[in-house]
Amino acid sequence: MRPSRRATIGLLALSLAAAGGVVAWSSSHQAKAADSGPVTIVSSDFEDGTTQNWASRSGTEVVENSTTVAHGGTHSLSITERTSTWRGPVLDVLDVMEMGTQYTITVWVQLASDASSDSARLSVERQLSGTASYETVVNNTAVSAGTWTKLSGTYTLATEVDFLTVYIETANAYPSFYLDDFTMTYVPATPIESGIPNVKDVYDQFPMGAAISRASLLGERGKLLAKHFNSITAGNAMKWDATERTEDTFTYTDADAMVTFAKANNMQVRGHTLVWHNQTPAWVFQDASGATLTATEENKALVLSRLENHIRNVAGHFGDDIYAWDVVNEVIDEGQSDGNRRSSWYTLTGLDYIRTAFTVAREVAPNAELCINDYNTTVTSKRDFLYNLVSTLKAEGVPIDCVGHQMHGNIDWPSASDTEAAITKFAALGVKQQITEMDISIYTDNSSSYTSIPDSALASQATRYKALFDVYVAHKADIDSVTLWGLEDGDSWLNTYPITRIDAPLLFDRNLQSKPAYWTLIGQTSPAASATSVTASPSASSASPSASSVSPSASSASPSTSPVSPSASSASPSDPGTSVCSVTYSVAGQWPSGFQGSVVLKNTGTATISGWKLSWAFADGQKISQLWNGSYTQSDATVTVTNASWNGTLAPGTSATFGFLGSWSSTNSIPTAFTVNGATCS
Ligand code: XIL
Repeated sequence: MRPSRRATIGLLALSLAAAGGVVAWSSSHQAKAADSGPVTIVSSDFEDGTTQNWASRSGTEVVENSTTVAHGGTHSLSITERTSTWRGPVLDVLDVMEMGTQYTITVWVQLASDASSDSARLSVERQLSGTASYETVVNNTAVSAGTWTKLSGTYTLATEVDFLTVYIETANAYPSFYLDDFTMTYVPATPIESGIPNVKDVYDQFPMGAAISRASLLGERGKLLAKHFNSITAGNAMKWDATERTEDTFTYTDADAMVTFAKANNMQVRGHTLVWHNQTPAWVFQDASGATLTATEENKALVLSRLENHIRNVAGHFGDDIYAWDVVNEVIDEGQSDGNRRSSWYTLTGLDYIRTAFTVAREVAPNAELCINDYNTTVTSKRDFLYNLVSTLKAEGVPIDCVGHQMHGNIDWPSASDTEAAITKFAALGVKQQITEMDISIYTDNSSSYTSIPDSALASQATRYKALFDVYVAHKADIDSVTLWGLEDGDSWLNTYPITRIDAPLLFDRNLQSKPAYWTLIGQTSPAASATSVTASPSASSASPSASSVSPSASSASPSTSPVSPSASSASPSDPGTSVCSVTYSVAGQWPSGFQGSVVLKNTGTATISGWKLSWAFADGQKISQLWNGSYTQSDATVTVTNASWNGTLAPGTSATFGFLGSWSSTNSIPTAFTVNGATCS
């Protein structure tokens, strides 16, 4: 077991620096104290003229300090004499990363002046007992000569390792390049709200699930998961590319860890998914020489035998530990005249892959509920193709027990009535139904991107969550499982799909704290809302529509055509000349000597706030010890909080939230006067 390093990081930095630097500590940067937002644990600026522990990955390429170009200061790291795309600079981070903490890793890259444009990516290589795994932190990003390009992404180590490095490689050729200003930071995990009602208890009509990665089992995330949910789905760990990456070699490391966690915490496990057109390795549809299989009887038999072998092994491995399997996933394409998705499965086998999959799954997992799972099942054409397929196959005797409705939606879509219509329709088929992947994006198109999330979007999201859950509860006789696709906003797939943008589709935010959707779902008023001791401006009331920083238009993927139409308020009940902000300060949790505070700063004016400093004075000697989503100073009673890099710009109607831990004694009264950038906010 590797020791927890966070508490010892400052010390470690100093002792390593003193020992000549075994790991990557810049001589000009030390770890920042963990009391002011993101903590920097590695920083390479190369200003000291060394490589700061960066090395050559294969030993043949040359990695050296350079003054030819620099992103900041006058030095950078140069990498030359590369002989393949993967040969490049590498940094050992074994002794600085700890499991379960999400790190933000950033680096700037510029190609050598004579190099043709290429793409670069940032990855992690981890090993245990000599077995290596490679994980992409930042995907291929265009890079060129003469320009610095930033690669930045997040990574959470979820497994034990005895070797751990970060490296940068190129995609096409192997040009020389420079890198500079590498940083690795983390935001200390916020404790979960342990006193709030559990979602699984409020909705005890069905198992209440969340899709997870292995990192979701650790630390505060693991606590949040076990507190609110009693079912889990592996977001990726049971898919074909995770379980049988090469033919007949099966890996269950991450999935087994999830099953173990589930058993230890009285949770059930859904299996996702045995057959899909995505995340299936290429070999499945190739012959021994690597050529793509063509549709012949022989090749049909070959892929069906691979399918059977896969299901026998995977479903057989988990046995009764899985209560429901998504046997096939997303087989309908309503754009086809017959509704059948033209996947390689279909083109090589027709519908026989579905028949084989269910038949074999029934044989090896006789007690699992076997589902056919799909998205957009509330769209009439898709729903009807799925209905007809299930009806035909069931009539043939194919053992389909259940229809899975993924229910990926957004704040405008789908409607409760379309959802109800879909459930009612399938109920007539005599199948069970499960809600398998629900999330509610704050975007209604594929291109908008917020810099800070408007309260109005979170309010609409809460309303839609509740409306859809009301339908599920009304149809509890037909629905025997409800799963959300993620645990907290930070781990949602929607942060990178369909484009990279900040999304917030779940019940808990990135700091693991409850969102309006949570409180609306459980039918209680959020203490944060009721603890509003300072709502400085009456224009912050719900009567005043808030402007949004983008104008989301109807999604092409979503048939809903009712876009959010943010309209700026023409008249506010308060004088906009004197009111630019409101502050909501609440105590999220309190114990004998400490408390957790949460502050929402909202721009209630008509102009954008670019950078903010929020100040107040504590009346009872309270002292902040740690703050996230901003940085702070405290001088006696006076606290000043400055925005973090990502939440400094507040368009009218939008807000920023930060939280903190503090100490108190005898009384912990709530501050009543706030200033923002020197102007009174009340
Ligand atoms: C997603 C995962 O959440 C991502 O991490 C992965 O990169 C892509 O797949 N429908 C499904 C799920 O059935 O398997 C998908 O999960 C989301 C859409």
